[in-house]
Amino acid sequence: MIDIHSHILPETDDGAHDLDEAVEMGMLSAGDGVTVMVATPHAHDSVHETHTLSSLRTKIDLLNSRLNGRPRIELGCELRFTHDVIKHVCLDKSAPTLAGGPYALIEFPHLIAPVGSERVLFELMSNQITPVIAHPERNRVLIAEPERFFGMVEMGVLGQVDSGSILGQFGKMVQKTARLMIEHGLIHIIASDCHNTRNRLPGLSNAVAATSKLVGDEVAQALVDANPRAVVEGKPIPYRFDPVLPSKKKRWFLFGR
Ligand SMILES: [Fe+2]
Repeated sequence: MIDIHSHILPETDDGAHDLDEAVEMGMLSAGDGVTVMVATPHAHDSVHETHTLSSLRTKIDLLNSRLNGRPRIELGCELRFTHDVIKHVCLDKSAPTLAGGPYALIEFPHLIAPVGSERVLFELMSNQITPVIAHPERNRVLIAEPERFFGMVEMGVLGQVDSGSILGQFGKMVQKTARLMIEHGLIHIIASDCHNTRNRLPGLSNAVAATSKLVGDEVAQALVDANPRAVVEGKPIPYRFDPVLPSKKKRWFLFGR
């Protein structure tokens, strides 16, 4: 399996506290069957420091030398959506793409999906960068209006859910939204978004087991293997689904239960 979203780099953001914890996260991940992890520290989120590429690469090299390829760690970032994302990804290149390829992991603020987001994401795609939206199931606006995310997916944007969302770690509403998005073909990748060895853990297999019950083994496996593998290899993802517009009725049930 390939995990494209992790906060494994030590002393970088709100993820691994030190190198020992980062190594332990890597080992837990490898033990769960993950062969490649992309380190995605927060970037340009107005909360955490956005580090220079050279300092991030130094940490990646140090971690890889300790883990010895089990798993291999690649560099990326989790870029906070602003109207400057194109500048950060394509011009000043202060926001590394996932494993240096044509995909960028982008998160909306938790409470909003800014007006005009779609236009910015479209412009990014016009610059040959495919946006992968991190955990849309945890965004208040997209929980209430999943049809908004449907529109983005129809445009070519990819969706990444957190394994913890599928398993209920962020509450029932997030869990139901994650499942609804998966069932409607709006999600292409499951990632751990792991932060530590205490409560935001590495590993994907539990989420795969839960997802298999929703959409079957083949699709569940594709979400942690074939699709994220294509992302780190810089290729088109092999599993794109025909997205289905979440119905209002379905949504009423979503919040009515
Ligand atoms: Fe994250």
